[in-house]
Amino acid sequence: MLTKIFSLQQEPKSTLESILRSSLTLKQTVKEQGWSAVAINKPHIVYQIFFEPSTRTRVSFETAAHRLGVQHSYFQMDEFTSISKGEGILDSLNVFKANLPDLIIIRSGVHADVEKFFETCDIPLICAGYGQLYHPTQAFLDLMTIMEYQNTLSVAGLKLLFVGDIKNSRVAHSHSIMSEKLGYELAQCAEEQHLSSEPHWKKFTQLDEAMNWADVVIRLRTQKERGSADVSKDFRITQALLEKHDIPLMHPGPFLRGEDFEDSLAEHRNSLIWKQKENGQYVRAFLMKALLNKEKI
Ligand code: CP
Repeated sequence: MLTKIFSLQQEPKSTLESILRSSLTLKQTVKEQGWSAVAINKPHIVYQIFFEPSTRTRVSFETAAHRLGVQHSYFQMDEFTSISKGEGILDSLNVFKANLPDLIIIRSGVHADVEKFFETCDIPLICAGYGQLYHPTQAFLDLMTIMEYQNTLSVAGLKLLFVGDIKNSRVAHSHSIMSEKLGYELAQCAEEQHLSSEPHWKKFTQLDEAMNWADVVIRLRTQKERGSADVSKDFRITQALLEKHDIPLMHPGPFLRGEDFEDSLAEHRNSLIWKQKENGQYVRAFLMKALLNKEKI
């Protein structure tokens, strides 16, 4: 039984496939019958504990929890928590655990205390972003969005291109882990300083050539909060390039209009960006429901 969603390194292909297909099924059920058809409506309590900022991830978990009929509390780990009085992160996390919620969702930087909590906590846990390393729910919603667009139940053989600050991206790193299990190909395009050093990534230096290879392109912003230098304007997605190659454009967000892509491309007919934002709640609803109901995935 799956009780923790963190790196996904240990999860078999069948589990990842099941999460993707079940998220699509949950969305279909909601569209046909409404949220009441998938609601849990038991007195479960979910905590969201965030040490780093978020809009999309926070809102989609929170919305999904409300729609499932689950009690939800959000905790922003800022100067108004006892961390500011010197309490250690593991001790703080154990305070939340001692209140016995049914599920905890955590966003944080890379920290040994957080990894220890994921290893030792006997309450179900979901990672909502872990430094530069993991963002599993984002990778799931990206793939769900592509499967929905391609009207397929598999991503095997997909050619997925990342452009921008790949090195510092937890989204790219989660895809790196998942691609090896699910059999999709990854490529990256940026200056050398922004590239992942993992060997199974194909490398491009020319955006035109890279987009010619790809089935789907995901643009990533410069992670300035991780000390990254600006990605060159040579890697900005233009309308001309998008229309020349006629492939879907995605972005995990937050996106920087004018820097990551030409201003209006988020609304271009090839953009799946707003569909990604919508699909976040379905993937996260499925995962919360599965972990709360102790379902076998
Ligand atoms: N994609 C993503 O994680 O966005 P937020 O930081 O706004 O949650």
